[in-house]
Amino acid sequence: MTFSRKLDAWYDDYGRSLPWRGIDDPYRIWLSEIILQQTRIEQGREYYLRFVDAFPTVAHLAAASEEQVLRLWQGLGYYSRARNLHAAAQYIMNECGGRFPDTHVGLLKLKGVGRYTAAAIASFAFRLPYPVIDGNVYRFISRLYGIATPVATDTAYDEFESLLLKLIDHRRPDRFNAALMDFGSIHCTQHNPQCGTCPFAEDCVALKTGKVEMLPVRLAKAKVVERYFYYLDIQWKDCDDTYTLMQQRTGKDIWKGLWEMPLIESGSPLEDDDLKDKVNEYLMNTFGLQPMEIGVAATLSHQLTHRTIRAAFIRLNLDSKPVLMPRNMQVLPLSKIKDIPISRLIDKYLHGL
Ligand code: ADE
Repeated sequence: MTFSRKLDAWYDDYGRSLPWRGIDDPYRIWLSEIILQQTRIEQGREYYLRFVDAFPTVAHLAAASEEQVLRLWQGLGYYSRARNLHAAAQYIMNECGGRFPDTHVGLLKLKGVGRYTAAAIASFAFRLPYPVIDGNVYRFISRLYGIATPVATDTAYDEFESLLLKLIDHRRPDRFNAALMDFGSIHCTQHNPQCGTCPFAEDCVALKTGKVEMLPVRLAKAKVVERYFYYLDIQWKDCDDTYTLMQQRTGKDIWKGLWEMPLIESGSPLEDDDLKDKVNEYLMNTFGLQPMEIGVAATLSHQLTHRTIRAAFIRLNLDSKPVLMPRNMQVLPLSKIKDIPISRLIDKYLHGL
């Protein structure tokens, strides 16, 4: 039996029934894929149903306000995905005459759509023979063929894609892809895969060579050597003095006991939109401040032994002292900063050293 016949038979018995399966509406398929990049199936299903209820078509999504879209996305995180979704819907309405792109190349032009998502929409909605390669597919195929190429890189995608192009069922690429993903996620699992009942067991290189647990190969996560600090330089005037807010660093970390401005730390650089969201969320939660325009006043890099700190300073001018004041923060006239201990980084920012 061919690969796709075996897969098909397995899917008959074990395939999942999901609200975005068995439909050919590219808009809904796209929506489901973007949501599933953020969360697991069960939670994804709830978000998906809420989205299609609120925005049944791409025209509805395009016509919504960004706030409406972000509110529905709330809880999924990574809000730039939601913004891309909204922007792509508007692109489809304004630049494509409301027609959803129906080619792989056309799909790739949508903001936030990469090779995987384009392949999913192309195959599920238009029955085009593009294999989908997600984490589950990498696992299954790397074991079956004993492929030790580190997965989830562009090179690996090329390699797995050309292999799968030889296997894909050209009559039903949609069904083939759904089955491929389900098999990886349900049967050929990361831990305790069910090799005893696997329809591919006799062909499985990893099983024959005792490498099931060793595949797929993942690139070691690069050690975090950079930290991203976003400092909020909040100032307001009262009588003749200008005031700012400082807090003392605590815990097992650099600069313990030194004073600095309120800080948002991130493990990766924040895009402008994400930064805006994070800062406004912080200002609301910490000080009860309404959203405001955010601009970076200065950026500085600071070298420590094992880390580079990439710092951005955001200057916020208020009319008066914030209504809420967390207990760990101190209001200080600018003239008093010289009296408290600060890091070299903060010193560089304040005094341009
Ligand atoms: N994960 C991502 N896309 C999926 C899909 N279409 N079906 C099931 N799981 C998925």
